[in-house]
Amino acid sequence: MLLDELEAIRKEAKKSFEEAVSGEALEELRIKYLGKKGALTRILRSMGKLTPEERKQIGQLANETRSGIERFIEEKADELRKRQMALKFQTETVDVTAPGRIPKLGAEHPITLTIDEMTRIFMNMGFSLEEGPEVETVFMNFDALNAGPNHPSRDMTDTFYITDKTLLRTQTSPVQARTLLKKKPPLKIISPGRVYRCDTPDATHSPVFHQVEGLAVGEGVTMADLKGTLSEFARQMFGPDTKTKFRPHHFPFTEPSAEVDVSCFKCGGKGCRVCKGSGWIEILGCGMVHPNVLKVGGIDTEKYTGFAFGIGVERIAMLKYEIDDIRLFYENDERFLKQFR
Ligand code: DAH
Repeated sequence: MLLDELEAIRKEAKKSFEEAVSGEALEELRIKYLGKKGALTRILRSMGKLTPEERKQIGQLANETRSGIERFIEEKADELRKRQMALKFQTETVDVTAPGRIPKLGAEHPITLTIDEMTRIFMNMGFSLEEGPEVETVFMNFDALNAGPNHPSRDMTDTFYITDKTLLRTQTSPVQARTLLKKKPPLKIISPGRVYRCDTPDATHSPVFHQVEGLAVGEGVTMADLKGTLSEFARQMFGPDTKTKFRPHHFPFTEPSAEVDVSCFKCGGKGCRVCKGSGWIEILGCGMVHPNVLKVGGIDTEKYTGFAFGIGVERIAMLKYEIDDIRLFYENDERFLKQFR
């Protein structure tokens, strides 16, 4: 009797599996025949009542039935997989005439663009590049630059001190001192880089910003060389009609010192929003290198003179691209950045 039942199960299973059309249906059938409450399991469980002779016979057939059903499952699963692939090939098409997708391109940061342009202009005038550390000694940042022990810029409220001997440089000017210690005149260098000051961020202040430092030392270097160099820089940076104005100022490391204004490249000097109505825009500080600074490098101040300048990169970039908030440079908003592509 059990033999007949087993044969019936096998036949019925074969038919059901042949008719199955999905993976889910297949799984349902697997549970129906091989699951804990399945037909086959039920028969195997009832085998206790059989004689050893019967048990051997029925057991063998039951096992054969089980592996038969397992084979049905495998075959059907294989068939379903193949059918799905065939369907995919039929319905999915590749349009070989479709235009290619344009990859998203990044853009150079406006600060990088500005530093690169400034560097290019000065290198074309014969300046070479120097680098200095952002973690600087108090000596290089202040003492070597003739800023006495009571100079206000040393104040804790302006300077990020790391220890009492080290700080985050507040200016790129310490590269002047490092260069003088390392190179012999005649020399002409620029040094772009990051600088740090304890400033609360607002539209025109950021605790991290960039400067380009310049230094030229040689025999017979005069203020006329300084004016010629910076006027030419302004013309190349802002346009050939740009005029420059040198106003007396004070810096500890230069004597005499000056601040430089350029005629407003936007309105040509008539007065507008960019120049705040004055027709002039301040762009940098400069001067003739103080003898005390030259002496740090052991340079003969009777024989050699030099000029130096320091330019704020953000300020130049803000003017050139008419950006009215310095924070835009650091927020990395794609809508801002992609405009410089
Ligand atoms: N270091 C100055 C500052 O951060 C800028 C500066 C002024 C640099 C005059 C110079 C210079 O080399 O000669 O405000």
